[in-house]
Amino acid sequence: DFVSAFAPASIGNVAVGFDMLGLAIEGAGDRVLARRTTGSEVFISAVYGLDGELHTGLSTSIEENTAGVAAAALWAERGDGGLELIVRKGVPLQSGMGSSAASAAAGAVAANALLAEPLSMAELMPYALAGEAVASGGIHADNVAPSLLGGLVFCPPVLLPEIVSLGTSDGISSVLLHPELQVNTAESRRGLSRNVTMDQWLAQQGYIVGFVEACRTGDRSLLARCLQDVIIEPQRAAMVPCFPAVKQAALGQKAYGCSLSGSGPSIFALCATEDAADVASAMEAACRGDGYECQLWISPLT
Ligand code: HSE
Repeated sequence: DFVSAFAPASIGNVAVGFDMLGLAIEGAGDRVLARRTTGSEVFISAVYGLDGELHTGLSTSIEENTAGVAAAALWAERGDGGLELIVRKGVPLQSGMGSSAASAAAGAVAANALLAEPLSMAELMPYALAGEAVASGGIHADNVAPSLLGGLVFCPPVLLPEIVSLGTSDGISSVLLHPELQVNTAESRRGLSRNVTMDQWLAQQGYIVGFVEACRTGDRSLLARCLQDVIIEPQRAAMVPCFPAVKQAALGQKAYGCSLSGSGPSIFALCATEDAADVASAMEAACRGDGYECQLWISPLT
């Protein structure tokens, strides 16, 4: 009698598009189970970790847990009766892998599946965003949108809740490395400078348009020139001590580019699918060489 929804982890910003580009990955994500109850409450009965044990780091309050916030927001508008949720956390917390967004997306999708007239994935955006806002302290959809829709998504704040799924050519993969560190996204966002120079703005605009076009057409040399962040990465890199070594290792193995995933500490690279295993091993070796344990995921762009 439970329905079950899975939402993947994601790479926020994708270097070039702060708060407006996101990319889903394979192999890591959160699952939310939901069922109707005879009462009238929306509640989370348990949060489990990957090991199947109760998760000690997360609240079961529907006002704090992003899965609960998203599901409750949808249920308040469209549901009736009670709703029980169980959260199975597969994405590490404060990892820069869109952990709060994956829970929010899975919570919204699970509750939606119990409605008489379910909404489309795109229509679930506002509810999933409400969940994400509790965790990150701002409205940005670059994790929620790929968690809901998959693939590479363009979701600038000025267009929300409208979001655009971007096409990608075959043969490109992402490599995502999660070092054993934590960065709090809300804090990291508060620390960002509110000012950019005209030169930075011009450069970043050029990169984002070039990047989107390169993904669409498969122009690899344009992709490699454009996969850069001249505004945010320099401000955040110091929070992740292994970042310089990992980035250098990725670029040394023909990655098109390498940057922080979301607010870090995770680090991603894009590369040709045939180079992905080599890029991943080089990044892993560099990270361990700096003294940090890590986990990696390789995902073809679809
Ligand atoms: N765009 C957000 C940020 C994503 O960089 O703060 C957080 O994962």
